[in-house]
Amino acid sequence: MPEAYVTLATNDGYAVGALVLAHSLKSVGTTRDLCIMIAPAVSQEIQSLLHSVFNSVVVVDVLNSNDSAHLSLLKRPELGVTFTKLHCWTLTQYTKCVFLDADMLAVQNPDDLFAHPELTAVCDIGWPDCFNSGMFVYVPSIDTYGQLLHQAEVSGSFDGGDQGILNTFFPKWHRVSFIYNMVASATYTYLPAYKQFGGNAKLVHFLGALKPWQHRYDSNSGSVHLSPGYQHLAPYLNSWWAIYIRLVRPGIPDMNIESASYSKSLLGDIQVAHQLGGLSLGPESAMEGKARWERGEPDYLGRDSFANIQAYIDAKIKSNGK
Ligand code: UDP
Ligand code: GLC
Ligand code: MN
Repeated sequence: MPEAYVTLATNDGYAVGALVLAHSLKSVGTTRDLCIMIAPAVSQEIQSLLHSVFNSVVVVDVLNSNDSAHLSLLKRPELGVTFTKLHCWTLTQYTKCVFLDADMLAVQNPDDLFAHPELTAVCDIGWPDCFNSGMFVYVPSIDTYGQLLHQAEVSGSFDGGDQGILNTFFPKWHRVSFIYNMVASATYTYLPAYKQFGGNAKLVHFLGALKPWQHRYDSNSGSVHLSPGYQHLAPYLNSWWAIYIRLVRPGIPDMNIESASYSKSLLGDIQVAHQLGGLSLGPESAMEGKARWERGEPDYLGRDSFANIQAYIDAKIKSNGK
């Protein structure tokens, strides 16, 4: 039975994040399946894109902790729906899975994670005795799912989201290196360590309230317009946007761009991206790129490999600096 990366999107914004994540995993050469759990609220346009990129798209009910007291401590009232993540234990068609938040990006192949047992994760940067639930290795099981739901009902979650429940349920988790869930905003809090080890990062996590798809992108400079306080995220945000512009945006139908089913923030981002035009990676024209994309043939080992996209961004940033 196959193994899979599993992610979650309850709305179009996170679904676009998940599309970039999926392309990044393919660009670094994963050999595992890609599976996404979605809520029915994800628009039909985005759902059909998801079907073209993921091996499996599973519609699930939204579970919400409705625990505003704990969520306000976390200053993230919107995270009650992350209880929906618990559905990932029901995916018993897979023998082992790695759950990844939709706000993550693969920059090197993380497939070696599948060698680890349930529950393997990375320390949370806010409270390192806990693991961060943006990435965890687990074994699907209806029995475990039932126990998790039972615990949720009886004791709730100390942070109002999935991370509180999972840390209570798996107190003896296995720790792996920060390179498997490198929180992008942490890179500047310990700069010497970032300089020493940052190059080993395999999965980058855009943890926090402002997500990559909520930043503005300027195609003239080929870089993201960084909001104050976000400068240190530049290399990773640029990588995220390069994949979005090259591999996701061509599949979003222009005709439906005004569709009310797009969430407001995403609509803004898509419009900005469309107004500003595309990022060009080498001689292939935008039309050729679109046609190739529509045939479902991204060139992950060549033009669309992560190393190639990164080399393009580096060159672009160097030439802008002159
Ligand atoms: N998520 C979702 N819809 C939401 C909020 C969260 O689908 O409205 C999913 C998505 O996969 C997301 C994960 O739950 O990556 C955890 O939320 P988030 O990444 O925003 O939390 P953070 O990592 O910033 O604490
Ligand atoms: C954390 C994690 C996220 C989780 C949230 C709620 O900050 O990064 O994955 O959903 O807490 O528990
Ligand atoms: Mn996250």
